Amino acid sequence: MQKKRIGLSFLNPEQELIHGQGDTVLETLVKHGIPIKHACTNGVCGVCLTPLLSGEIDYAEKQPHGLNDKEKQNGYFLPCIAACKTDIVIGKPKVTLR
Ligand code: FES
Repeated sequence: MQKKRIGLSFLNPEQELIHGQGDTVLETLVKHGIPIKHACTNGVCGVCLTPLLSGEIDYAEKQPHGLNDKEKQNGYFLPCIAACKTDIVIGKPKVTLR
């Protein structure tokens, strides 16, 4: 299977990570030391909320309970339960680390 890429549009210079097979997007970000706030890692709390700028993600059998309709419409997703379906580009996570 071809490896998927995660583009990080909010870094300067922009960076690209290889999405680890079997990992969630969140796990890939954390492994590469990308700052992203997270808590439940189960799609419930909404803390990891991040804009998906392009590409498709896959929640498999998980449900993004931490995402309301408005956030969905605005293109946000929950990296803690999402895998890459295609190469994706993401924006800056909504909740910033303190
Ligand atoms: S960490 Fe709670 S929804 Fe992602």
